[in-house]
Amino acid sequence: MTESADLASGDWASGDLDAERPSAARVYDFYLGGSHNFPADREMARRAIEMWPELPQIMQANRAFLRRAVTYLLDRGIRQFLDIGSGIPTVGNVHEVAQAGAPDARVVYVDIDPVAVAHSRAILAGNDRTEVIQADLRDVDAVLGDPRTTRLLDLSEPVGVLMVALLHFVPPEADPAAIIQRYRARMAPGSYLAVSHATHEGEPDQAGPHTALYQRTGTPMTMRSRAEVTALFTGFELVEPGVVFFPQWRPDPGTDPDDRPERFTGFVAVGRRE
Ligand SMILES: C[S@@+](CC[C@H](N)C(=O)[O-])C[C@H]1O[C@@H](n2cnc3c(N)ncnc32)[C@H](O)[C@@H]1O
Repeated sequence: MTESADLASGDWASGDLDAERPSAARVYDFYLGGSHNFPADREMARRAIEMWPELPQIMQANRAFLRRAVTYLLDRGIRQFLDIGSGIPTVGNVHEVAQAGAPDARVVYVDIDPVAVAHSRAILAGNDRTEVIQADLRDVDAVLGDPRTTRLLDLSEPVGVLMVALLHFVPPEADPAAIIQRYRARMAPGSYLAVSHATHEGEPDQAGPHTALYQRTGTPMTMRSRAEVTALFTGFELVEPGVVFFPQWRPDPGTDPDDRPERFTGFVAVGRRE
């Protein structure tokens, strides 16, 4: 089945989803100009954009970081990627960036959201160097032990683990730093972790109302400080320039520096597992 036939059939909108309740994956899809969202998602996204008109630009900056991080890891010889909280496919998916640079690169996508997973499967049908699994980041054994993961990823070799715009959906009581340590323990030395994370430190006035809106979703939001994001990298050596706002992380050559990078309100970093 072609992607368009699959999408036209509405398969992406079936399964165990709750269309009445906004989902972080589908709201994000709307911010990025996608069409895999429902009225409840659009209503929440429009309210958020009314309060904070720069949100779509912020999400695009997040996507641009993802692309730069994957390219950086490819340049360091990484050929296998685990993209957790991968979202609904859109322009510049990890396998597109990775396999454009290295056709033999393998990518396992993981998301908790059934629409994200269904749509990823439709896009990836026929690409035997990618897999998609529906799982919760917190269930480390389910993610790493899934036969689709073990088919593609050899964890005795370095792997690039991507947690991009994901960990702010993990509440403090779930202890994201401890979850990362459980992944770290299974990652070979020389592996990398890439993170982007919403923060209240960029635009403190916007952070409260925005976080309140996400209370409606199945994955409420927790913004974190630079110190908290840095602490997620315990046991990883941060690569230059460390934990910075989106546009400050290894910008493409020729890019003008942003006058107010803090307006992007998200910290990003890449660390090498020691
Ligand atoms: C904002 S999107 C980010 C998509 C993509 N990583 C990017 O940055 O463009 C966040 C994704 O994380 C997923 N997610 C939230 N909590 C999760 C969890 N506990 N386990 C797996 N995925 C989760 C959501 O369903 C959503 O698709």
